[in-house]
Amino acid sequence: MSNPTLILGIETSCDETACAVVADGQDVRANVVASQVDLHAAYGGVVPELASRAHIEAINNVVTRALAEAGASADEIAAVAVTNEPGLIGSLLVGVMAAKTAAWVLDVPLIAVNHVCAHAYAASLDDDPIAYPAAALICSGGHTALYRCLSPTRLELLGSTIDDAAGEAFDKVAGILRLGYPGGPAIERAARQGDSAVVKLPRSLLRGQSLDFSFSGLKTAVLYHVNGLPGRRKGKRRRVGAQAQRAASQPNAGGGIEQFTEQEVADLAASFQAAVVDVLVTKLRRAAKLTGARTLVLGGGVSANTALRAAAGALAEKLGSPLRLPAMTFTVDNAAMVAGLGYHHLLAGETAGYDLQACATVRR
Ligand code: KG4
Ligand code: ZN
Repeated sequence: MSNPTLILGIETSCDETACAVVADGQDVRANVVASQVDLHAAYGGVVPELASRAHIEAINNVVTRALAEAGASADEIAAVAVTNEPGLIGSLLVGVMAAKTAAWVLDVPLIAVNHVCAHAYAASLDDDPIAYPAAALICSGGHTALYRCLSPTRLELLGSTIDDAAGEAFDKVAGILRLGYPGGPAIERAARQGDSAVVKLPRSLLRGQSLDFSFSGLKTAVLYHVNGLPGRRKGKRRRVGAQAQRAASQPNAGGGIEQFTEQEVADLAASFQAAVVDVLVTKLRRAAKLTGARTLVLGGGVSANTALRAAAGALAEKLGSPLRLPAMTFTVDNAAMVAGLGYHHLLAGETAGYDLQACATVRR
């Protein structure tokens, strides 16, 4: 049997400095993630300048740890894969420079990986290959998009968010509800004690056949609900309507989150989460039908959400299609998904030169 092909992956597109070693695109030998979450928590979101500086401080150590954890010597590495788009430009640059240096020192190919495509590949790590064609829903702090996937490296964009990403909406609503950062896990925790039928919130872009997403209206509806409902009464089903909007346009007109009981916060968190999940799964169903996908795939930080995983599971059962969920460690940003997808680029002969650029948005 021939030796496995080991790819070193590097990921620094946002606030995680990550390095991984993956064999033959599937077998994760090491997956090291240095999270900056504590650094950014005080600001309620990622501060780009702080993120790039923290990447510079962490990157050498993270790469060394990944090689040690994999029990691999540097000369066993067949190629270096790196996220070069999309993401925070200062953060991406640190990873791209580190990857160029490693590829040059080791004298192996350099491979450019798209971060969102890597999320769509994450479900096949430490697991069977995904059966294509697949419909993939990728939702994270920076992206919310649907893809028709023909192979690990051939993805066609079907729709994406026209404003906030789903994870961004979780983070912002958690800020409004004073639940802390990152918002996704905090809202999910609060929602467990809540009733999702208590507050009626809007579901955007559900009419017609659009595969795009919009979450800013939902986020604003939560804000209005918190700030602007005069005569808020416990146990009553509340509507976000014109009256609420008028009241909410005056800051703290109706009170603010301090006046909500713990149960009311939980109900609002549950109602918000249900609205997001509803929209995401409705669009995934639409995409699956449109593309005749054999498989449904979830990826990105929001795919850690239990309610979303359950709703996508119910959809998959209804459609008779397998659902591929990434292991929890591979939902959030990591370099194993980068190394895994990098292997398929290498097989396809898709390598990059030392002139590889980092790009904040995706060039088409
Ligand atoms: O994929 P990721 O680590 O970074 C980006 O590429 O953006 O995703 C981070 C996002 C954050 O917005 C976070 O609040 C959200 O994923 N997230 C969740 C959950 N865990 C993380 N959202 C909902 N429910 C969760 N359990
Ligand atoms: Zn991500």
